Amino acid sequence: MNVMTKRWYVDPGRAEAAERELAEAGGLLARGGTVAFPTETVYGLGADAGNTAAVEAIFAAKGRPSDNPLIVHIADIAQLADLVHEPDAVSRRLMDAFWPGPLTVVLPVRTGSVSPRVTAGLPTVAVRMPDHPVALALLRAAGCPVAAPSANRSGRPSPTLAEHVLGDLGGRIDGIVDGGPTGVGVESTVVAVEAGGRLIRVLRPGGVTVADLRRAAPDVDVTAETAAEEAEAPRSPGMKYAHYAPRGRLEIVQGDAEKRAAWVRASLAEAKRAGERTGVLTVRERIGLFEADLVVGCGSAGNMREAARDLYAALRRFDEAGITHILAEGYESTEGIGLAVMNRLNKAAGHRIVRVR
Ligand code: TXA
Ligand code: MG
Repeated sequence: MNVMTKRWYVDPGRAEAAERELAEAGGLLARGGTVAFPTETVYGLGADAGNTAAVEAIFAAKGRPSDNPLIVHIADIAQLADLVHEPDAVSRRLMDAFWPGPLTVVLPVRTGSVSPRVTAGLPTVAVRMPDHPVALALLRAAGCPVAAPSANRSGRPSPTLAEHVLGDLGGRIDGIVDGGPTGVGVESTVVAVEAGGRLIRVLRPGGVTVADLRRAAPDVDVTAETAAEEAEAPRSPGMKYAHYAPRGRLEIVQGDAEKRAAWVRASLAEAKRAGERTGVLTVRERIGLFEADLVVGCGSAGNMREAARDLYAALRRFDEAGITHILAEGYESTEGIGLAVMNRLNKAAGHRIVRVR
């Protein structure tokens, strides 16, 4: 695959001034092209959800396994009726509360409304309305529901900058709308309402937290699996694949702060002797504690929102520096957005966690 990837710059603060750029990019989508675009979570790689050849081009560009279904993006709630059968009352409440925003809802698909490649043959389709002015303007310009997974090569960290997309997919996709850095930094929360409306199951934790869901539907149970349960039996098809991984070997270190630092220092020294290029990922206030080829501060102890925003860019920095031995320490909170951060970090580390006592 070697195509010219066209790049349009659109300032998210002035998306309405970028009519020409958005008409071009939207036209390309409508004609069956693949176009990457920013959302409030991460960059997505879009194609017309009804066009099987276009959707296949997404899978080819990403190297994505074909049994992993895609999220369909809409700009207007009126687009929903064509895609799915009448949503249940709880799903409706969630959409009212969080759209546009980082929540994806799995609903019964109307057969034939999207390419079977989008749903990977499931009787359901995952739908979301992104909260990003450039994404919404592009979806309107395209005039069709747009299937869009994260715009990374399969298995790599999701892209939070246009440069990440171009590094992974430049020359493999038709275009990219560059709207600068995304916001939330981790992908949307994927939910399915089950048990006749008595249960909201979080299939993938993300920007909308469990507490947010409980507040919006106080009379409904909300369950999210722990990392260990999920490693056992992934519920969302996508969650079973190796994901978000840097090229080096990443291990998470948890436990008492002082003992942990000592353990990390010893492991770094040993790896260095073995000829490894070493790296540490930690919260900003602890970067001074470590000596390694690359120490990256990502978020601060009390602020997991920042950690979410910066996590994928941080993981990519280790690759850029050719780091082979990476230790992540300082991340334990599974409260709020911390659940999504730890979910992605766990996957990036292939579930390798050391508990120092
Ligand atoms: O924030 C996001 O959701 C980003 C931006 C671009 O919108 N998109 C994204 O897409 O993360 P992707 O393809 O990387 O992840 C989609 C997730 C996968 O885990 C997939 O298995 C799950 O959603 N999914 C899609 N359709 C599903 C369905 N019908 N039932 C259950 N899970 C589904
Ligand atoms: Mg992805």
